[in-house]
Amino acid sequence: MNEHLNEKFIQIQGVAQTFKTAKGVFPALRDVDLNIAKGEFVALIGHSGCGKSTLLNLIAGLTVPTSGALICANREIKGPGPERAVVFQNHSLLPWLTCYENVYLAVERVFGAANKSTGVNAENKAQLKARTDAALALVGLTPAAQKRPGEISGGMKQRVGIARALCMEPKVLLMDEPFGALDALTRAKLQDELLQIVAKTQSTVVMVTHDVDEAVLLSDKIVMLTNGPAATIGEVLSVDLPRPRNRVQLADDSQYQHYRKAVIDFLYTRQAHVEKLTA
Ligand SMILES: Nc1ncnc2c1ncn2[C@@H]1O[C@H](COP(=O)(O)OP(=O)(O)O)[C@@H](O)[C@H]1O
Ligand SMILES: [Mg+2]
Repeated sequence: MNEHLNEKFIQIQGVAQTFKTAKGVFPALRDVDLNIAKGEFVALIGHSGCGKSTLLNLIAGLTVPTSGALICANREIKGPGPERAVVFQNHSLLPWLTCYENVYLAVERVFGAANKSTGVNAENKAQLKARTDAALALVGLTPAAQKRPGEISGGMKQRVGIARALCMEPKVLLMDEPFGALDALTRAKLQDELLQIVAKTQSTVVMVTHDVDEAVLLSDKIVMLTNGPAATIGEVLSVDLPRPRNRVQLADDSQYQHYRKAVIDFLYTRQAHVEKLTA
């Protein structure tokens, strides 16, 4: 892979998104331009309703832009695909399947005979099982593998969602406020685990969050969106903190505080007045 492709692994070019609503056309995003490098961890942050999920859904290929283009690994994003796995806030697990089965389903779809395009190289049951076991182990869920979603905590459900995404060996991991519904301690634990997993898998990650500390702790780059309607990228902050990162050590690190303040200034000073106008 050449350097150009590495630096511009994901390219978002002049993207706009409008939605047709009962009240007319609603402009959600405009003029969004962004390059994401291979292996980069990018946070999308902004006030509620600004268009974070809209942008993530475009990268996921769940929606198509009204104008502009999105490219991943030199190919235009035309729909969803296993190379861009998504983790949603509400985990979206099938409640009648065990944790193991929820993950196995995705493994089988991507690597098993169910996938027509790769059917020729379909893996056997033992190989699919090994992939499922490995993904569950990666998120520390081996002991809960045979439990159903109704029998496990919110944090564990999110872990299944992450395992299900990682088992596909995606090029890009897309996460929409994956820890937003969790209590603070569980959230911290999962953030730390995600840091370790990403260090291991070298995944490219785009994560939507509205949590400033989460953005600074995890990211290489924080993309700050202006308030909608017609939201766009207001500022991009590079977070040059060495890895591995330790939340306790970073708590009184001056550079960490500097990044934190930059995001808070953007959200609560520069974007605050717009919020009042639209509130
Ligand atoms: N399918 C849709 N139809 C109409 N409006 C939408 C649709 N999806 C999102 N929106 C609007 O676009 C704006 C951005 O939404 P969203 O991306 O979900 O915000 P965020 O994730 O930042 O909270 C909001 O005003 C929302 O109401
Ligand atoms: Mg959202």
